[in-house]
Amino acid sequence: MPETLGVGIIGMRMGASQLRQIVNVPGLELVAVCDLDEDRVREIQDEFDVPFGTTDYERLCAHDDVDIVSVATPDYLHLEMAEAAFASGKHVMMEKPLARTVDECRRMIKAQREAGVKLMTAHVARFYDVFQKVKQWTQDGTLGETYNLYTSYIHNYENIPGFNEWRFDAEKRHQLIGGGCHALDLARWIGGEVAEVSCYSNHYNIPQLDTDDHFNINLKFQSGAVGITVGSFGCAHPYNIDMHVWGTKGTVIATNTTPTAKICLRQTDRNKWMEMPAGAAPKGLAAEFAVLADAIRNDTTPESDGVSGARTVALGWAAIESSREGRPVTPVTDF
Ligand SMILES: NC(=O)c1ccc[n+]([C@@H]2O[C@H](COP(=O)([O-])OP(=O)(O)OC[C@H]3O[C@@H](n4cnc5c(N)ncnc54)[C@H](O)[C@@H]3O)[C@@H](O)[C@H]2O)c1
Repeated sequence: MPETLGVGIIGMRMGASQLRQIVNVPGLELVAVCDLDEDRVREIQDEFDVPFGTTDYERLCAHDDVDIVSVATPDYLHLEMAEAAFASGKHVMMEKPLARTVDECRRMIKAQREAGVKLMTAHVARFYDVFQKVKQWTQDGTLGETYNLYTSYIHNYENIPGFNEWRFDAEKRHQLIGGGCHALDLARWIGGEVAEVSCYSNHYNIPQLDTDDHFNINLKFQSGAVGITVGSFGCAHPYNIDMHVWGTKGTVIATNTTPTAKICLRQTDRNKWMEMPAGAAPKGLAAEFAVLADAIRNDTTPESDGVSGARTVALGWAAIESSREGRPVTPVTDF
């Protein structure tokens, strides 16, 4: 195993955010970048001193110095790019969502298993300091047993700079799968696998979308806990991701836009919130790459691997099916 792992990134918008953080991760070296926009590739190569640049993702995937291919292109390209990387024996960091559909996830995982390499889904919210802290409190006994949770992804897509048409084309991205996956994944991360989902949705805010743009999702976890996840894409509301966890010993309210969490502990004062520092450094992208590098070096399964990313996609589709058909749905978990 080489001391340094070479990273090649495809897609220079979200991928450019990744590279700004991973240039400082020890043991990773940015060796190749790719985008359809040739000028952008050159600009990034010059700024970050990247030896190889291309507009052809297959050349990046086949490049000898690349150990990890990071796919940061629109959702509808994820499967074909992962398959190209696996065909060259490369590990893959896949931007969320893992893929558009359950079927695409299955095909990607099959190709990964055949190649015998690692696949991680870049669910960066798991690596935000504030949510890491909440996760720790659910594991170290601080909150007791989790019996209820609330997660939300609230993002008005009309305000996204450079908004382009693939995000409005339901064939290329369903909003709940592509954006709402942040909140669905956090719910699975804290609550475990979901036994049944029941969803209501509506469409008031983004007329040019041909799917609903607001989703209230009721979750019944296999553990017995319950929860609610909200995905909202056209609301008059600042962007944020929330996580509330109710445990038998305490409750916590956290959001990705503030570096403190509110915690209420039964043994301290069950009528009072305490402000707890929960970390401020927004280094989630660096942290997720460090996790994948570690899994490659130690031949372990990374946090948020391909199967986990696929289960989050499947949970989203179970919610959509429930809303469309007016009945509870059991999400697919076998990948
Ligand atoms: N983790 C997060 O919070 C987060 C935030 C934004 C986007 N994302 C994810 O990142 C992915 C990309 O989103 P984005 O916002 O950067 O999209 P975007 O449309 O803004 O940019 C996509 C980039 O990929 C390039 N591209 C498209 N097709 C290509 C091809 N065939 N070969 C090489 N380059 C190609 C485009 O030229 C463009 O520069 C999506 O899957 C999205 O869900 C994640």
